[in-house]
Amino acid sequence: VDAAGTRHFALSAGTGSSELIAGKRTATWGYNGSVLGPTIRARRGEAVAFTVDNALPEPTTVHWHGMHLPSRFDGGPHQTIEPGGTWAPAWTVNQPGATLWYHPHPHGSTEKHVYRGLAGLFLIDDDVTDSAGLPNTYGVDDIPLIIQDRRLTADGALDESDATDVGLLGDTIVTNGIAGAYLPVAHDRVRLRVLNGSSGRLYNLGFADDREFHLVASDGGLLPEPVPAKRIQLSPGERVELVITMRAGVDALLRSFPITDRAGIAPADAASFGFDDAFDILDLRPVAALTAGAALPAALATVARLDPADAVAERDFEMQWFMINGTRMDMNRIDFSPTVDTTEIWTVRNVDNWPHNFHVHDAQFQILDIDGTPPPAALAGWKDTVYTPPGSRIRLALRFTDYTDPTFPYMYHCHLAMHEDQGMMGQFLVL
Ligand code: C2O
Ligand code: CU
Ligand code: CU
Repeated sequence: VDAAGTRHFALSAGTGSSELIAGKRTATWGYNGSVLGPTIRARRGEAVAFTVDNALPEPTTVHWHGMHLPSRFDGGPHQTIEPGGTWAPAWTVNQPGATLWYHPHPHGSTEKHVYRGLAGLFLIDDDVTDSAGLPNTYGVDDIPLIIQDRRLTADGALDESDATDVGLLGDTIVTNGIAGAYLPVAHDRVRLRVLNGSSGRLYNLGFADDREFHLVASDGGLLPEPVPAKRIQLSPGERVELVITMRAGVDALLRSFPITDRAGIAPADAASFGFDDAFDILDLRPVAALTAGAALPAALATVARLDPADAVAERDFEMQWFMINGTRMDMNRIDFSPTVDTTEIWTVRNVDNWPHNFHVHDAQFQILDIDGTPPPAALAGWKDTVYTPPGSRIRLALRFTDYTDPTFPYMYHCHLAMHEDQGMMGQFLVL
């Protein structure tokens, strides 16, 4: 932190090798190390400044997924960092405490860059998250989990061949960069901040013993109150925070179960999308004497509802065949331009028979309805990425605030990275 109060960070994207699987070296990419990147943490109201170096053999970008910030610092496909180059974005954090993440976004190569290991978490704290009464000792009872699937060749290299219709699907789950992850836990209440950092795989998370847990946050911050659940589905790019209660002498084994939400998916296709797969993700092992934590609070945060009656624009997005509204991404085409500080309603329809999801840069949105029905409690908070099953119609309310720029656009896209790379993306200017 400098004299002016700005918090400085240095990131360097580079190559290396790591032990994804014990005993095997795999060539990987990472930030400030050989795989993944440091967890970045800043407070609401704080000015942050980065130097980002590119020590990779090809151009990359670093996008701050979920962050409200000026478009020229967004790190989308227009903020290319050449090999040997440096980029210096800076902004003031101004949004609720949340679990965000950062990852490359070079047009056409995002899947490959993330698959090779470039991704990290970006946590925002604020007074509300400080006093919410949730476990918050990082790495002790507040555990970050980046869940990804990888496929390795016999000699331990990352296998980038044989993409499916949802991109690269792996048969090995790496959690925070390691397969077969386990963690000794000393507290009876544990918060997991989970990111689906995979290219195209959906997870249906739960515990092997079917224990109940509580969802406490979605992509953009705390939910109004804890939501009890036994399963939670996460599509690529989505985050969820959950709190579980450890029991003496009993492991809590976090697993991904087969996907049960199969609306619109042909039975013959489900397996090729990875929907039948099940994996162990993380084994939480209680120590002999667990420290008792506080009971879960009844209320977490106030989520002020955006009023759809205030909307000044309505826009439609139809997802099909690597396209949105019949066109593929064009770096030189601006698709539309919302007016700053106004509310809009976006209707997103997946008219394909493939799974897609929908992600918007700069703003967190609220889901108004899914196929005409209000969203379940787990999806009623701030979101920046939402699963859009085949045949679905989802209405979002959102506002782009504070920043205008006549030159640099923000993106919206399917976050199945191969679909995004293929052009299922568009761009808008906030004016
Ligand atoms: Cu997480 Cu446009 O991306
Ligand atoms: Cu993003
Ligand atoms: Cu898609």
